[in-house]
Amino acid sequence: MTQIICIANQKGGVGKTTTAINLAAAIAASSKKTLLIDCDPQANATTGVGIDKNSIDKTLYHGLIGEYYASEILIENEDIKGLNILPSRVELIGFEIEMMDSVNREKILKEFISDIKNDYDYIILDCPPSLSILTLNAMTAADSVIIPLQSEFYALEGLGQLLQTIKRVKKSLNPELKIAGILLTMFDKRTRLSHQVAENAEKYFKGQVFKTKIPRNVRLGEAPSFGKPIFAYAPSSSGAKSYLSLAKEII
Ligand SMILES: Nc1ncnc2c1ncn2[C@@H]1O[C@H](COP(=O)(O)OP(=O)(O)OP(=O)(O)O)[C@@H](O)[C@H]1O
Ligand SMILES: [Mg+2]
Repeated sequence: MTQIICIANQKGGVGKTTTAINLAAAIAASSKKTLLIDCDPQANATTGVGIDKNSIDKTLYHGLIGEYYASEILIENEDIKGLNILPSRVELIGFEIEMMDSVNREKILKEFISDIKNDYDYIILDCPPSLSILTLNAMTAADSVIIPLQSEFYALEGLGQLLQTIKRVKKSLNPELKIAGILLTMFDKRTRLSHQVAENAEKYFKGQVFKTKIPRNVRLGEAPSFGKPIFAYAPSSSGAKSYLSLAKEII
């Protein structure tokens, strides 16, 4: 059975895209066929795996509005065998506006990937930093949500809104949706603050916090500018090890 996991938090810059790219790459490296879908008009996951946005003419947007099948838009990753990408570009913003009035507008992504879903063991969805129609589409298509929490003071702020949204999606759009886990990112084990955030997260989400914590790691920050998952850029870095360990926990 294909597992579809969406990476969501409406807070910006918490490590959603870094997690989407490197978790997808780590799962693919464990010989599981994996698809990474970039659901964010910022398209950081697309550029982060080395796809030149100017060199492609079909993106997720064109699929969602019915111009192409998913199989026509897919791109194979050059570095990691078994990893495919459904790329995006800034035009994806248009989807939000154009679909504003359509019925079932939250189910379009689920419908769109239904014919390729079974080709994969895992599908990872990178969400934008908002609780917009795109995020609702991702949550409706997904089996579970990973919530990355940056290990800093305001980490838990805004979580109430996110949990409320997940509840609403469960109630009306996707009753089976689960929280896969809370992931601490940019964790610095030398600071008290990081440990405090971890403690608070554990208090609120008893038993739901991943054992793996993603450390703050310069290599993880550098990899996207080379268009590579961490395993192709710095395979022995602490960042690479942590995402492999997360993949193990999930698989
Ligand atoms: N563990 C880490 N160590 C060091 N830098 C990191 C780490 N995780 C993410 N970063 C860097 O922090 C920034 C934000 O990360 P990322 O883009 O993954 O967050 P995001 O939640 O996807 O952001 P947005 O909300 O804009 O989509 C990026 O520059 C990224 O390279
Ligand atoms: Mg992002």
